[in-house]
Amino acid sequence: MSERKLVSTKEMFEKALAGKYAIGAYNVNNMELLQAIVESAEETKSPIILQCSAGARKYANQTYLVKLVEAALETSTIPIALHLDHGEDFEICKLCIDGGFSSVMIDGSRFPLEENIALTKQVVDYAHAKGVSVEAELGKLAGIEDDVNVHAKDSTFTDPQEAARFVKETGCDSLAIAIGTSHGAFKFSGEARLDFKRLAEIKKAVDAVVGYDFPLVLHGASSVPADLVAECNKYGADIPGSKGVPEEMLAFASKNGVAKINIDTDLRLALTGAIRKSFVEKPANFDPRNYLGPARTAVKELVKHKMKVLGTAGKA
Ligand code: G3H
Ligand code: 13P
Ligand code: ZN
Repeated sequence: MSERKLVSTKEMFEKALAGKYAIGAYNVNNMELLQAIVESAEETKSPIILQCSAGARKYANQTYLVKLVEAALETSTIPIALHLDHGEDFEICKLCIDGGFSSVMIDGSRFPLEENIALTKQVVDYAHAKGVSVEAELGKLAGIEDDVNVHAKDSTFTDPQEAARFVKETGCDSLAIAIGTSHGAFKFSGEARLDFKRLAEIKKAVDAVVGYDFPLVLHGASSVPADLVAECNKYGADIPGSKGVPEEMLAFASKNGVAKINIDTDLRLALTGAIRKSFVEKPANFDPRNYLGPARTAVKELVKHKMKVLGTAGKA
C-alpha cells in the first residue's frame, strides 16, 4: 500500500494561479495512458490531475482505475490528484468521493441556472464534508460531452455575472467556463477564436465575489496537433478537417486565471497514430506489447510537450 496520498486540486490550483501556470488534467482509461502521463510528469517534474469520465469508469471499472492510480503514487514522486470528469448526477459524484477520488466535477451545465445551482450545492456539501474539491460548469460548450450532444447553435458562453452568483451560492472550488472551446477533434470550422475578453470579465466578477484568486477551468482544450492527425491519416485513418486550440492560446489562458486545462483528444490521437503505424509496418506482429508500447511512448512525448506549454514542468 502506498504511503503517498493524492493531493487535493485546491492546493494545486492555489500554487498554479500564484505561479501563473495551469495544471494539465489528462483523461485516463487504461494502464498505458496512465503510465505515459505519470512518467511524463515524473520526468518533467510536473504536478498532474488524472481524470476519469463516466465512460472511463464504465470501460475500465472504477476499482481498477483507483488501483492503477495507487500504483502510480507508489512508483512516482510528483503530486497527483484524481478527479471525476463530467459527473452528471449526485450519485456518480458520491461513488467517486467514497471510492477515494480527491476531486469531482458535477456538470449541471445542461440544466437551467437554478437547477444547476441546487445540484452543484448538493455535491459541494457532500464532498466538502469529506475533504474533496468540486469543479462545476456554467455555460455550454459546443460539441460532445459524454452522452450529451451540444450542437454549436445551442452553445452558450458563460455570463460573468451569472458565474459570480453561481460560485457564491454553490461554494464550488473551481468553475469550467464556455468561451469558445469544445470537445473533440473538430473545434473550429474557420480560424480558432476564444473569447478572452469574457475570460477576463468572468475572472474579475468571480474574484470580487469570493475575495480570492478563483480557479477557472478550460474543457475542450486539446490542440489537435496537425502532425498527430497526419500520422493517423497516413496509416489509414479518416480524420479530415480537424482543428484544435492553438498552443499560444493555452499558454495565454494559463497565465490569466485558468488553473486547469483538460486534455483527452490529443492523447487519443497520439495513441491511435502509433498503433496504426505499428499495424501497417509490422503486419506479422500480434503481441499487444509491441504496439501498445510504442503507443505509450507516443503519448508520453505529447504529454511532456504539453507540460512545457502549460508551464507545469519544474513545478512539482
Ligand atoms: O469531455 C469528455 C472527455 O473527453 C471524456 O470522454 O466520455 O468519451 O470518456 P469520454
Ligand atoms: P478535448 O476533447 O479537447 O481533449 O477535451 C477534453 C475534456 O474537456 C475532458 O473533459
Ligand atoms: Zn470536458
